[in-house]
Amino acid sequence: MEKKSKIILGSDHAGLNLKNTLIQFLKTKGIETTDAGTYTKDSCDYPQIAKDVAQKVAAGEYEKGILVCGTGVGMSIAANKIKGIRAAVVSDTCSAKMSRLHNDANILCLGERIVGEELAKDIAEIWVNTEFLGERHARRVNMIESSI
Ligand code: RB5
Repeated sequence: MEKKSKIILGSDHAGLNLKNTLIQFLKTKGIETTDAGTYTKDSCDYPQIAKDVAQKVAAGEYEKGILVCGTGVGMSIAANKIKGIRAAVVSDTCSAKMSRLHNDANILCLGERIVGEELAKDIAEIWVNTEFLGERHARRVNMIESSI
């Protein structure tokens, strides 16, 4: 992994184990992370974690965020309510790459009940290290930002 970036991670109880795995994994790759919670297996509400992480990414406090819940779906729906956030639910490496190259996704959403640990690590590594292509894709992303 060449690129160093500051990443904020968050999960609900259903995504806690995978989030902790990814924090350790990213650390071995020299990536600095912040853990926005949750920190226990006690049941909690994913929209609150998603909002907190998404607001910090949208404000530029962090370059990117990773959100984990049971499926990744709830986190993505909630995170995408925040202006400036492009959250992508990903469960394969090709979508991980394309969500950065073409969509400039700034939040990666993963489902602990959907994606195995090793695949999730591959997805995270590719996603963190892939740059947005810009050009025609920037025009399209700008259309999304300005509500088309
Ligand atoms: C929690 O049971 C589950 O609903 C949540 O983690 C997530 O999968 C929602 O989309």
